[in-house]
Amino acid sequence: MKRILVIHGPNLDLLGKREPKIYGKVTLKEINEHLKRIANKHKVCLAIKQSNHEGEIVDLITKARDRFKGLLINPAAYTHTSVAIRDAISATGIVTIEVHLSNIYNREEFRHKSLITPVVSGTILGFGAKSYYLGLEALLELI
Ligand code: DQA
Repeated sequence: MKRILVIHGPNLDLLGKREPKIYGKVTLKEINEHLKRIANKHKVCLAIKQSNHEGEIVDLITKARDRFKGLLINPAAYTHTSVAIRDAISATGIVTIEVHLSNIYNREEFRHKSLITPVVSGTILGFGAKSYYLGLEALLELI
């Protein structure tokens, strides 16, 4: 069975309570449950991690190399700052889709730059929780 790694970056554990006008009311647990339903339908196996720590996310990506066929990642705030996460994705060479709940391009200017986008196969943003579901479907097409 193909295996996919899902990584949720910092503060995404607060979804549902965190700025619902921007990120919606759906919780991370609900998102994960829906992702698992999609995975079951397609007969793939999901491993899901959330971390607030940049180094931990780098380790997860690096160790994914031979274990996972694809990576679905919302790097959250690290999208805009982390050369280390970008380099890990690039070094691992794992097929990756980047997702964001919000449209980072119609928000504050500091969010307009993603360091991650140049090293992923595609990015889906602005659809709330649906960005994850569309991202997983897109990843499944690629692997
Ligand atoms: C986010 C957008 C980022 O700018 C922000 O720091 C997040 C969440 C999103 O999913 O919309 O934490 O990645």
